Amino acid sequence: MTAADEVVLEVADLRVEFRTDEGRVRAVRGVSFPLHRGEVLGIVGESGSGKSVTSLAVMGLLPSSARVSGSVRFGGRSGDAELLGASDSELSAVRGRGISMIFQDPMTSLNPVYTVGYQIAEAIRAHQDLTRDAARKRAVELLDAVSIPHPSERVADYPHEFSGGMRQRVVIAIAMANHPEVIIADEPTTALDVTVQAQILEALRTARVQTGAAMLLITHDLGVIAGQADRVLVMYAGRVVEAGTVEEIFYTPRMPYTLGLLGSQPRLDARTLRLHPISGAPPSVTDMPPGCPFAPRCPLAAPVCQAQEPPLAVVGTSGHLSACHFSDRLDGLKPADLFRPVSRDTAP
Ligand SMILES: Nc1ncnc2c1ncn2[C@@H]1O[C@H](COP(=O)(O)OP(=O)(O)O)[C@@H](O)[C@H]1O
Ligand SMILES: [Mg+2]
Repeated sequence: MTAADEVVLEVADLRVEFRTDEGRVRAVRGVSFPLHRGEVLGIVGESGSGKSVTSLAVMGLLPSSARVSGSVRFGGRSGDAELLGASDSELSAVRGRGISMIFQDPMTSLNPVYTVGYQIAEAIRAHQDLTRDAARKRAVELLDAVSIPHPSERVADYPHEFSGGMRQRVVIAIAMANHPEVIIADEPTTALDVTVQAQILEALRTARVQTGAAMLLITHDLGVIAGQADRVLVMYAGRVVEAGTVEEIFYTPRMPYTLGLLGSQPRLDARTLRLHPISGAPPSVTDMPPGCPFAPRCPLAAPVCQAQEPPLAVVGTSGHLSACHFSDRLDGLKPADLFRPVSRDTAP
């Protein structure tokens, strides 16, 4: 077995429910996936599909109102551990050192009253036996690694003296500080300007290369995943509805929802944008009706789709999975074959 076949994180039949005044919110409904050592697994889906709740469950960061079941096994340096139901002290040992997390808004991770250098150094000293001076020196190296200009001067700045993109790079520096085996990045570029997004993706790449960590890259934007991920999970209404290599997802998708996401994606190389978006909105996951949750928006929907939720099953190659009663019919289809066009002229 090569290192790349080794599974560093195994999520199995993860289910998360919230009891609310409006009813039972079934946020995650049986999500399973392996994350292999060093790979980038993209998780994509519209807002509300359960991406963040999945990642928070892995980190043990859900509020106490959540009911969680299933399994999250972390195969770290210090042996195999079940993270679901683990104690706070077990989880704090894993967080930061084994698995680190990058959120959408860098200010949720940074403390406004401490310098960035202090915060990076403290993150290092929480897990490694280093003097203050050595940790500060390492903080400068990390700022340099994520392309902060003049790192030995900027290390003494406070977060508010940095731009949003630079703050996110500081968060990435903290995430890589203890050589984690897994980095979870949840919408890491969503709050930032498009021009800054590419730099953040580059910094994430540096973090991966320097630490060798595997990454869960979570985003609603297929464009973010395209140049980064090895494999992709497409989520809808709390479930994985398609899984495959990045090539399978982009070139031979076998779930209408994935085709819809691809059709909603503007192509920067086209002068005239011809989009084939999905109409309608994702369903509420409170007291869901039976059947395929995508059926109300699906051009292929038939009576069986209202009656029965399709299982996630192998299509084509062994690692390509799709949850659709009609996945066979999608072989070779493009977004334009399923969804109606909406033209938008981009020429000035
Ligand atoms: N603490 C909570 N209490 C109740 N419902 C929640 C809570 N957190 C998330 N949800 C619901 O769970 C579903 C999935 O949310 P989330 O994982 O944040 O979606 P995504 O990250 O894919 O946009 C949504 O319907 C959301 O409203
Ligand atoms: Mg989210």
